[in-house]
Formats: sequence, C-alpha cells, structure tokens
Amino acid sequence: KWIMASENIIEEKKQGQALITNNVEGNSKKLFIESYGCQMNLNDSEIVASILAKEGFNTTHLLEEADLVLVNTCSIREKAEQTIRKRLQKYNRVKRINPDMKIGVLGCMAERLKTKFLEEEKMVDLVVGPDAYRDLPNLVREVESGEDAINVILSKEETYGDVTPVRLNSNGVSAFISITRGCDNMCTFCVVPFTRGRERSRDPQSILEEAQDLWEKGYKEITLLGQNVDSYLWYGGGLKKDFKNASEIAKVTATDFSKLLEMVALSVPKMRIRFATSNPQDMSIDVLHSMAKFDNICNYIHLPVQTGSTRMLERMNRQHTREEYIELVDNIKRIIPECAISQDMITGFCGESEEDHQDTLSLMEYVKYDFGFMFAYSERPGTLAAKKFEDDVPMETKKRRLSEIIDLQQKLSLYNMERFVGKTVEILIEGDSKKSSEHWMGRNSQNAVAVFPKGDEKIGDLVMVQVEDCTSATLLGKKVA
Ligand code: SAH
Ligand code: F3S
Repeated sequence: KWIMASENIIEEKKQGQALITNNVEGNSKKLFIESYGCQMNLNDSEIVASILAKEGFNTTHLLEEADLVLVNTCSIREKAEQTIRKRLQKYNRVKRINPDMKIGVLGCMAERLKTKFLEEEKMVDLVVGPDAYRDLPNLVREVESGEDAINVILSKEETYGDVTPVRLNSNGVSAFISITRGCDNMCTFCVVPFTRGRERSRDPQSILEEAQDLWEKGYKEITLLGQNVDSYLWYGGGLKKDFKNASEIAKVTATDFSKLLEMVALSVPKMRIRFATSNPQDMSIDVLHSMAKFDNICNYIHLPVQTGSTRMLERMNRQHTREEYIELVDNIKRIIPECAISQDMITGFCGESEEDHQDTLSLMEYVKYDFGFMFAYSERPGTLAAKKFEDDVPMETKKRRLSEIIDLQQKLSLYNMERFVGKTVEILIEGDSKKSSEHWMGRNSQNAVAVFPKGDEKIGDLVMVQVEDCTSATLLGKKVA
C-alpha cells in the first residue's frame, strides 16, 4: 500500500492471498482465505483464521484442495467489487470439479449486499459481515450440513479484543494491531460507515498484551489500525455505553490516542510503532507531541485530505477547511521536522470544477507529500453523496485530473526521496529486494523503501544505510558499520 500508485497498481498490490499458512496439528479441514481492500481486512482475515483454527481448519494456498473458500471483500470503489465478482466466478469453476467445497464472502461486500448474494447470485453458500466472525463456527456447521448461512448483524461493541490473530499477512517483522473498528464520520462519498458500522475502541490492555506478545514472537514493528485512529477513546472502567451520564464518565480517566501511543511505545520500547489512518479533523497536537517524545514511534503520518478545495471538503463532509488542514500540516512540520506525510485524494467528486482541481494541485505543492494514494470518484449506492448529489464529472475528466495529480505526486515523491541522498538512515530489514535476492529491502522511519547489498545481516535487523541514489519510490545505498 505504501508506494505511490494509480488505482490499478493499488488494487493489484492490495489484493491476494496471505503470505503464510497456519498449521495446527490435528486440524484436518482446509481453509483458503483471500483478502481484498484495506489493512483492516488483512487483519480481520487473521482473526477469522484464528477463530476457524479452533474449528479444525488449517489454511492452504491451493484453492483446488480447499474445503472452505473465504474471500474478505472491499466495497470502497465499484472496481473493487468487480474484482471480487471475478474471483467468485473462479471459485465456482473450481467448485464444479470439487462439489463439496463451500464458498463464503466476508467483509464489506457481504455487509452491503447481504442476502442478495444468496438469492440473486447463487455464487456463495455463506455471507458474514465484519462484526459477525465469532459466529463463524456455527455458520460453517450450517453450511456443512447443506444449508446456506448468513450473519450480517453489526455490533456497537465487537472489537475481537480477546482473539489473537493468526499472522497470515506478515513477513515475520511487522504486524497489524486493530485498535478501533467502524467509523462515525459519514464522509458523503464513503461506504465504510454503512459496511463497518459504528465506531468503537478496543480495551487498551488487550492492545498492550498483543504488542508484547508480538515482541516476544520476534516481531520488530507494529501498525495500529483503525479507520480513524485519532478518535480512539477508552473510558477507564469500561465502554462509554456502560456509564449512565456524563459526570460518571468524567470520574474515570479516559485513554485517548496520544495516551495509547505512549503506553504502547513504553511497553515495547524496542519495537517500531506506526499507525493508520489519521483523520485531519481528529488529529490532535497531543499526538504530535507523543510522536516527538518517543524515538520508537515512526515519523510518518498518513493524512488523507481527498481534495484541496474547501468547497469540496464541505460537500464531502470532511469537517475541516483547506486552511485548517494547512495549519495541521504546519504543526506537524514544526513539532516533528523529519515527519513524512502521505495523502489520499479523490478526483472528480460531484460538482468538482477546474478551479477545485487546481486547489488540489496547489495544496499538494504546499504540503509536498511523500507518498499518495489517488482515486477517481466512484459513486457508491446508499451513501449520502449518491442520494444528494449528481455524479456529474465525466469519466474522462476524472481520469485526466487523476493523471495530473499522480504526475505531480511522482515529482513530489522524488523531491522527498532526494533529501535522503548523502545521508545515513536507519533501516528495518523486511526481506529480499523484489528485484534481486542479493539485496535487502527495508524501510526508514519515514516509511521510504531502501534497497542495499546483503552482508551478514538478517531479516528483522535494524541497520544504518548510507543513501547514495534514489528513484521516486526507492532509496539505493550501502550498509555502513
Ligand atoms: N479512514 C479510512 C478511509 C478508508 S477509504 C482509512 O482508514 O484510510 C480509503 C480511501 O479510499 C479514502 O481516503 C478515499 O480517498 C478513497 N475513497 C473512499 N470512498 C471512495 C469513493 N467512493 N470513490 C473513490 N475513492 C474513495
Ligand atoms: Fe470513510 Fe470518512 Fe470514515 S473516508 S472510513 S467515512 S473517515
């Protein structure tokens, strides 16, 4: 997800199978699980694998030998859903050879389309929404007895806080920890609040335990995940709903995101800590100070803005203006001078004029983003934008504006990478470089990818690398003693 890319490349990078399989002795059934979409989906699939491991399922990479095929789905853009439909067709072709195989959809598309999958499409046996994974053992049993099964009930409490994910999507060095689920923001273009439900925060103790457990298992980096991590909030004695009124809540100390970050930083002092995603409207100065205070919190903030035009921001219900965003960026650069910042942008949202588009370009020039994830607007059924506004920017215009911002981002990325040339940076080794097994690949604190010739280091080591050259996506250098 981290390199600058157009929609196509992102979809390609994000999709696909887990890296490793889970093998519990005595388990005889085989689960093939694939994840599309965001990092939260990857992490959810790890939770699902953990729940099903207790039901006798080991994971497999071979679709053909699976007893159960699950696809964790994404609804964020129409194209994401098309990709998944194609995968379902593929599973169904395999099912013709292996009729006992069961097929299930998980995640956002399951939640959005619900029984439609069973009634109209007849491509699946099982439909499970993001908050219903604990029910999988029952649902799978129903399916095994020959019936269709569905649970798409959303929850205000479920955080899977006590489920230890089976790390399928990890290189053994970095792992995800979900800290919030759902989203209460209601950006008008976005389907997530409908598919992932209300926002809720996870018990900090279970987060610290998971971090500690990962450290003991040899992991070196964690990413705290949420649709909007900055609105993390936990009340001392329990969940908000457990308190009768405001004064009762005031009596107990609350843990906000800046406190949580500090608690995690202290509890695993030798691990690198990252987080995503920060919503500009909720990011506080306290979080910036926590970042500045702890060396092990990485200097990188993913700060989606979507557009540089205040008029469009308002239409999108983003709850901040261009000027307020710039003020936040100025604060980031003042408090954490070395901090990298990345964006998400949408081109061609309803009513976007050429002037609005120019505002996006000029904001990008001002912030000088290190990375970016850019998309053409895709209307999603049921969202506020679909109900209220006309999707009136022609596809050609959306695409032209998209390629303009991608070109600009490429230049900005190169500019940012060049500032490391001639410097020595600390790199956490993640594995072989994609192009050569003679080279290591890792990242610095700012999340820039670096490649350098192998010596006697190993995966998971932190090494100092002298940067000699770069492209817009990669630093090239050599290890220094
Ligand atoms: N807060 C979330 C956002 C999830 S969606 C997070 O954790 O990142 C990721 C990005 O997809 C958004 O920031 C937005 O740029 C893009 N996106 C969302 N809905 C979209 C739509 N309808 N069309 C095009 N892009 C969209
Ligand atoms: Fe979507 Fe906005 Fe939440 S982009 S995930 S509604 S912060």
